[in-house]
Amino acid sequence: MNRRPVLMFDSGIGGLTVLREARVLMPDRRFVYVADDAAFPYGAWDEQALNAHVVELFGRLLAAHDPDVAVIACNTASTLVLSNLRSAYPDTPFVGTVPAIKPAAERTASGLVSVLATPGTVKRQYTRDLIREWAARCHVRLVGSDRLATLAEAYMREGFVDEEAVRAEIEPCFVEQDGRRTDIVVLACTHYPFLVNRMRKTAPWPVDWLDPAEAIARRALSLLAGSPALATRPDRLDPQGDDIAIFTSNAADPATRRLMQGFGLSVMEAMTV
Ligand code: DGL
Repeated sequence: MNRRPVLMFDSGIGGLTVLREARVLMPDRRFVYVADDAAFPYGAWDEQALNAHVVELFGRLLAAHDPDVAVIACNTASTLVLSNLRSAYPDTPFVGTVPAIKPAAERTASGLVSVLATPGTVKRQYTRDLIREWAARCHVRLVGSDRLATLAEAYMREGFVDEEAVRAEIEPCFVEQDGRRTDIVVLACTHYPFLVNRMRKTAPWPVDWLDPAEAIARRALSLLAGSPALATRPDRLDPQGDDIAIFTSNAADPATRRLMQGFGLSVMEAMTV
């Protein structure tokens, strides 16, 4: 008996913020977590190259793991590649992660919202279109951070982060205008929720930090409704059981393995994609 997994994908460990929500909602499901760490960070990639890279990689991932649903737990990839993945692999349901601009626009009281993301997500047409469509009445500041995803990677492995660096990265999110202040910061990179306590601590004033992880997990669950958690697929890899993590570098160090263990994932020794 084999269980078709939910495939959770990110450039690094950021997708774990979505995985932990998905586990709560889908305790019976098996998860395959894929970190494309060989290509991390996605934030700095040229758009065409990243597109081709992710579409090609998914050809191998889908063939190897045959997921029931694939969650792109990465804004930088989703805002660029999602529609291409759907057309390249029409048999696989994909769930994307895109900046939570619509809920932010609905919730803000001051009308000043900031979107904190990688430089890639900030410059996407997709992100601009979301703002035009859903937040035309707000003042939206896009803040591209070069360092936060890498800081989150280090923090999760080493337990230490330079708070001054976090403070400097989030500072441009805080706007004061005509007596009003930013009241919502959209965490538009799945790595950032890991640093949210440090962000709270170093922020100049309290704001709502919007993390879309639960909404993404709910969307994945809704696509799985009707698909049983157990299915007979004896021809597939990872024939039974445990949730696994794959690192495309195939070079996860001991700290990374420990981190993954903490999330209930065993790192596969050999790259199978
Ligand atoms: N976790 C990714 C995201 O949600 C980005 C990290 C990276 O730059 O690769 O955008």
